[in-house]
Amino acid sequence: MPDQTLHFESLLVHGGLEPGPAGATSVPIVQSSAFAYPTAEELEDVFRGRAVGQVYTRIGNPTTEALERRLALIEGGGTAIATASGMAAITTAVLTIVRSGDEILSSSSLFGGTFSLFRDTLSNYGITTRFVDPLDLDGIRHAINERTRLLFVETIGNPKLDVPDIPKLAEIAYEAEIPLVVDATVTTPCLATGASLGADIVIHSTSKYMNGTGTTIGGVIIDRGAFNWNTPKFPHFESYHKKYRAFAFTARARKLVHKDVGACAAPFSSFLLSEGIQTLALRMERHCSNALALARFLKGHPKVAWISYPGLEDSPHHQVATRLYGGRYGGLLTFGTGDKASAFRVINGLRLAKNLANIGDAKTLVIHPASTICCDYTPDEKGLMGVTEDLIRVSAGIESPEDIIEDFKQALDAIR
Ligand SMILES: Cc1ncc(COP(=O)(O)O)c(C=O)c1O
Repeated sequence: MPDQTLHFESLLVHGGLEPGPAGATSVPIVQSSAFAYPTAEELEDVFRGRAVGQVYTRIGNPTTEALERRLALIEGGGTAIATASGMAAITTAVLTIVRSGDEILSSSSLFGGTFSLFRDTLSNYGITTRFVDPLDLDGIRHAINERTRLLFVETIGNPKLDVPDIPKLAEIAYEAEIPLVVDATVTTPCLATGASLGADIVIHSTSKYMNGTGTTIGGVIIDRGAFNWNTPKFPHFESYHKKYRAFAFTARARKLVHKDVGACAAPFSSFLLSEGIQTLALRMERHCSNALALARFLKGHPKVAWISYPGLEDSPHHQVATRLYGGRYGGLLTFGTGDKASAFRVINGLRLAKNLANIGDAKTLVIHPASTICCDYTPDEKGLMGVTEDLIRVSAGIESPEDIIEDFKQALDAIR
């Protein structure tokens, strides 16, 4: 059946797959650095874009291309560029859009690596970032100025777990003629596609739910082909727009930044992701239902001082999350036990959940962000990211909900 007629769950399994050698039904791993052509003329044609073909795996690879076709299809259409990591995807996407002297307008509720890229690394090259509360729509409107070249936001902030109204942000970005770049790692296209949210560019760290088993680092940039790059704000897109029209972003990324930065996906990683992603829809259902069950349990536990999960009806984010994500609220939740010492005691008492710096694994994971992934940030910056000294972040896995709850129960019951 043609991909266009398939539903989301079927696209996860079949999307973009071409018949493999000897009837293979998995994406073949083409573990080759470069690709040979019989004649100099043929290789010249590929280099000049007169013929389609592979040249060198940093620029393109058949295993990665098969993955990219599937990733674009499940996001609701467009084109995809697979990268070595989620950070590589964010860096490549942003550097494709901005130039020295430009400004990024970003949500302040961000994954720490993105915050550091914007605050520290890019500012060394004359690209400044203004951080804004992603829920403050008027504040965002007023923060846009003549230097702003993109609006960046996470669908559900990691680890703050706030839920911005992305379609409203898309309207603001549209009016200001700047692209809306959305990191949808935490929600995945299972909860909402980039197309349904109105994002122009969608980014995922595929290291998380997309892969699903915590084996492979990867990322992807999806260009929905929806943004008009043909405006005075983007003179550096002019030649790309003339030739590639709606997909000027993909062309500039592929021909320039992705190629030059060199953070390509390895063929074996692309293979593992093509395998893992097939079960994404099933896994996300379980991540979401387990997170909700655990959140409800934690809410009623006397040792829990507070709990944050958009799926709880009294969460300030519940309404927006329900409207945008169809009654599913993701696999992340955070809670506090009052102070750092008791948070450490809970983490040390867990037997099933793993204490490590990742999310979106099949296994339940925990971390104390203030002392680990956010330890380099000032108290003010931690405040912006919603990181308190007692906060434990949980990434609910796909184990039995009874076992997950029992694990947290025994760890919490044991603290004084
Ligand atoms: C929301 C979000 N975006 C981006 C990243 C970066 O992804 P990677 O670790 O694959 O570079 C992470 C990693 O934790 C993340 O949680």
